[in-house]
Amino acid sequence: METKTISASLEGGAGYSVSIGSGLEKELKEIANREGKKSRIVVITDRSVEKLFGEQIVSTLEAPGKPVELYSFSEGERNKNQKTVTTLQHELLNGRYGRDTLIFAVGGGIVGDVAGFVAATYMRGVPYVNVPTTLLAMVDSSIGGKVGIDTKYGKNTIGSFCLPRAVIIDIQYLAKMPREQIINGLIEAVKTFITSDKDALPLVEKLNLDEPLKTPEILQEIIFRSVSYKVGVTGRDVREGNERMALNFGHTIGHAIELLSGYRLPHGFAVGYGILAEAKISESLGILSASDCAECFRHLARLGIVPEDFPSYSPEKILEATLGDKKTRGGVPRYILLETIGKVHQKDGQFAHPVPDEVVRKALKKCAEKQ
Ligand SMILES: NC(=O)c1ccc[n+]([C@@H]2O[C@H](COP(=O)([O-])OP(=O)(O)OC[C@H]3O[C@@H](n4cnc5c(N)ncnc54)[C@H](O)[C@@H]3O)[C@@H](O)[C@H]2O)c1
Repeated sequence: METKTISASLEGGAGYSVSIGSGLEKELKEIANREGKKSRIVVITDRSVEKLFGEQIVSTLEAPGKPVELYSFSEGERNKNQKTVTTLQHELLNGRYGRDTLIFAVGGGIVGDVAGFVAATYMRGVPYVNVPTTLLAMVDSSIGGKVGIDTKYGKNTIGSFCLPRAVIIDIQYLAKMPREQIINGLIEAVKTFITSDKDALPLVEKLNLDEPLKTPEILQEIIFRSVSYKVGVTGRDVREGNERMALNFGHTIGHAIELLSGYRLPHGFAVGYGILAEAKISESLGILSASDCAECFRHLARLGIVPEDFPSYSPEKILEATLGDKKTRGGVPRYILLETIGKVHQKDGQFAHPVPDEVVRKALKKCAEKQ
């Protein structure tokens, strides 16, 4: 497989490269040599990824006379918090790591968010390289430099914008990934395609969900198209002033459901139900046609996200949980609305919109009904 490379460039000249391929040890070594020439390299990961790939990564990054240390934390959204960040920061301080530290964040979206936040804050900021190992992190979270942690008030409520030096996406990491985790990541890709690249949707149908490496070109193309779109949007609006919020389709309700589940529902699945709800809201407001709304539901149903399983929290509880969303302004939550498959709604140049509570309540009830 030929490696595909995308250059993410931002206003002001900042940028990073994203490589997508199979068996990218050579690229990892090159980055370690180039970016880490005068640095001490550390790997931050979670315990499961450490067991799967820890030794392999450390030996790839190590060079004669340049040992690489690995620090890991317990996996899971419940550990994406201040305590984990503080522990890692203290471990680095205890190891006498200075400003010349280069962090490799190796893992899923949680590792990227946590290790990226450590990089953003350690010694007022040190560089990091993202090495995503879940499909969700490959198609979405490793791109764009949003890093952070959760609090009891909501998801990702403390964090920063901190761009990686490079992103290395090696599909080989997905060889043993369970189907549920593949679907979890695919839902974020479907969200991107529903909002901005409808021609990519047939790719999702062709992917082998049980063994995605049996359809490697399709897998690479799904990642490439998701990353290409995200690189473009985040390059134009890195600090999420407006357009970047379009990536948040399904997330106002999705994050609320994730929070209410005590983070037991994986992020992608919560977003999947959020997409159902926000498609229904768009339809109720007369912005999305009934047929396009039904098409949205069909794309999610193929991944097992169906109205019958819509989480049974009351609309009131969901509405209350949306208040912690980062798109909220003046205490009013806002939503990304869909206009057609492949296009989000804009009004007066704005991508996020307030929606009356009554419309949200009715849409939540409707989207939990059998279609
Ligand atoms: N920063 C962003 O822009 C952004 C965007 C979307 C989502 N996110 C965040 O990403 C997080 C979800 O990420 P996720 O779904 O990758 O979850 P995750 O990081 O928890 O990974 C899921 C599980 O898979 C394991 N795992 C990782 N790689 C594996 C592999 N190759 N094979 C087998 N198991 C593996 C992990 O140890 C973990 O137990 C959420 O916290 C979400 O908020 C961030």
